Amino acid sequence: MSEPRQIPVIVLGVGQVGGAFLTQLMQTQTTLAARYGVGFRPVALANTRAALVDASGLLDRAAALAASPDPGEALAASSGALGGLTTQDVIERCAGQGVERAIVIDCTAAEGMAAPLARALDLGYGVVLANKRPLAGPWDSAGTFFNHPLVRFEATVSAGLPVMSTLRYLVDTGDSIRRIEGALSGTLGYLCSRLEDGDAFSTVVREAKAKGYTEPDPREDLSGIDVARKVLILGRQAGWPIELADLRVDPLYPAEMAEMSVEAFLAELPKVDYDFAAYMGALGGVPRYMAEVGPEGGVVSLRMVGERLAAQLRGTQNQVAFWTRRYDDGPLSIFGPGADHRTAAAAVLQDCLYLAQSRLCV
Ligand SMILES: NC(=O)c1ccc[n+]([C@@H]2O[C@H](COP(=O)([O-])OP(=O)(O)OC[C@H]3O[C@@H](n4cnc5c(N)ncnc54)[C@H](OP(=O)(O)O)[C@@H]3O)[C@@H](O)[C@H]2O)c1
Repeated sequence: MSEPRQIPVIVLGVGQVGGAFLTQLMQTQTTLAARYGVGFRPVALANTRAALVDASGLLDRAAALAASPDPGEALAASSGALGGLTTQDVIERCAGQGVERAIVIDCTAAEGMAAPLARALDLGYGVVLANKRPLAGPWDSAGTFFNHPLVRFEATVSAGLPVMSTLRYLVDTGDSIRRIEGALSGTLGYLCSRLEDGDAFSTVVREAKAKGYTEPDPREDLSGIDVARKVLILGRQAGWPIELADLRVDPLYPAEMAEMSVEAFLAELPKVDYDFAAYMGALGGVPRYMAEVGPEGGVVSLRMVGERLAAQLRGTQNQVAFWTRRYDDGPLSIFGPGADHRTAAAAVLQDCLYLAQSRLCV
């Protein structure tokens, strides 16, 4: 058997998703070489604290990080790791060392990634994102990434389900998307399931935070902004150059609680329990935090979904429905587990494999 084609990968962000990606890279080396004749060779590994860059390959280092209980910490403690590099510096160093036709993987949650990723595309590199932010920025900068043949981002929306690939398939085969609706947050899905069971809003939020289901500041989930980014990405991929401002986003807490400290916010929460229960009682039905988008914009809000498929969601499950010209008898729906770091990493690896097989960047 001939040697597999080695494709350089630049991994930006070695946290939960980046670490799981390295693990899956190690686990699949033999299979991918045998089945597709490709191998992925990390040439840069970076987080905010440290970076390793070596055009000749960092496979052993990547294997060691993958085997570590805390790959990010292990990277920071690696011998020869460089400090103080930005992600753009890391990309430039790779280019300076003669790395060609690489794939840059954004597994950060960082703002400001649009410029380095655009630079990567200028260098002829492919780009795979788990990070939603560069795709959800102003269309002027984010537009570059949609429908670019070297950019993939399956992991950004309901990573455990084939959502982006299904949407691409619909668009690429000439279907016309009319509307997209979904329950896109595992965390808010969990919350809604508990509300449905009759638990008080404040109890549910506090418990979800204690279990680590929410961000350290639960308002990052409850604000709906993460869901808004996801549905914006879906809308843009459907072909609509909309902005975040075209979405009405209803947070799950009153505006006056937006600026409080986290402690004060948690302490004040029981005060909204009554309003919340009254609101749900008045509307009736099953509460779900839903996102909906069409060509002109959309709405992200708590809704009562009655008999619809979303009412069957349990816990952290996600659902997406595509209304299209071709599926005119009812939407094409995708339903199943919400994302975790392993399914997100698998989506990233699948995207890398797509770019490798398409031979566009390799
Ligand atoms: N976890 C999931 O289930 C999941 C699912 C789907 C999508 N995602 C998305 O995947 C991305 C990563 O999530 P995660 O759970 O792996 O987060 P995480 O554990 O917090 O890891 C984030 C990583 O990015 C690094 N980072 C942040 N800013 C950076 C910068 N400016 N330059 C270089 N590195 C930077 C962090 O470095 P330090 O450690 O040094 O801070 C860390 O290594 C996020 O965008 C998230 O929304 C996550």
